[in-house]
Amino acid sequence: MDMKKLIVGNWKMHGSLASNQALLTELLVGLPQPLSTDVALCASAPYLAQLQTLLQGSPLAWGAQDVSAHGQGAYTGETSAAMLRDFACRYAIVGHSERRQYHAETDELVAAKAQRALGAGITPIVCVGETLAQREAGQTEAVVKRQLAAVIHTLGHCSGEIVVAYEPVWAIGTGRTATPEQAQAVHAVLRAQLHAATAHGERNRILYGGSMNAANAADLLAQPDVDGGLVGSASLQAAEFLKLIASCPAVA
Ligand code: PGA
Repeated sequence: MDMKKLIVGNWKMHGSLASNQALLTELLVGLPQPLSTDVALCASAPYLAQLQTLLQGSPLAWGAQDVSAHGQGAYTGETSAAMLRDFACRYAIVGHSERRQYHAETDELVAAKAQRALGAGITPIVCVGETLAQREAGQTEAVVKRQLAAVIHTLGHCSGEIVVAYEPVWAIGTGRTATPEQAQAVHAVLRAQLHAATAHGERNRILYGGSMNAANAADLLAQPDVDGGLVGSASLQAAEFLKLIASCPAVA
């Protein structure tokens, strides 16, 4: 089945009202017409209202970088899936390695977050990926399968509705990208795992993330199981992000 590639910008904890507006304006003016790729931007929660205002009716979708595992209640500092829905988020990243690492998020917590997102009609972008030590110890496959298995276990047949992002931790923000062959090898493992889990053989989109930029995106996206990218630093500059989008093959 052919499907459009999906490029998601992960702004992380960057931006301001002024710089977001400038970036979004440049992106909207410079986007290829027609846009043959799906594109979304994931911002910090305070800016979701701004994205909703500036992007509604445009070809760009938007989303959050995290979501609470709880529905509502006494969870100071958390943002619920229903709140994200209020701001028309289409996506929510869950289980980013920075959250697993700095906020001690477990596979089970990530699965609960994915379930909350789906329950509110938001597509979770579930991040998986091994550390350098795990790769060097030959554990890559086992690690990503364990991380994804927790989500599949919780979501059951709804697993066909998620986006998965393979982000090797050693490639994030380091300028050290996985080779297209390394990415494809892991994506094929994830594809098989998803295929086995989803009753109707739905084809989830599996994104690659980790130092993807305008110069290396085309080769990564040419791999048969790389359906898009989760892009950090290269999404913060309009010219670079637009070049990356333009280099995208139209369909998977
Ligand atoms: P990077 O970040 O593109 O800056 O490596 C990707 C990510 O962490 O999602």
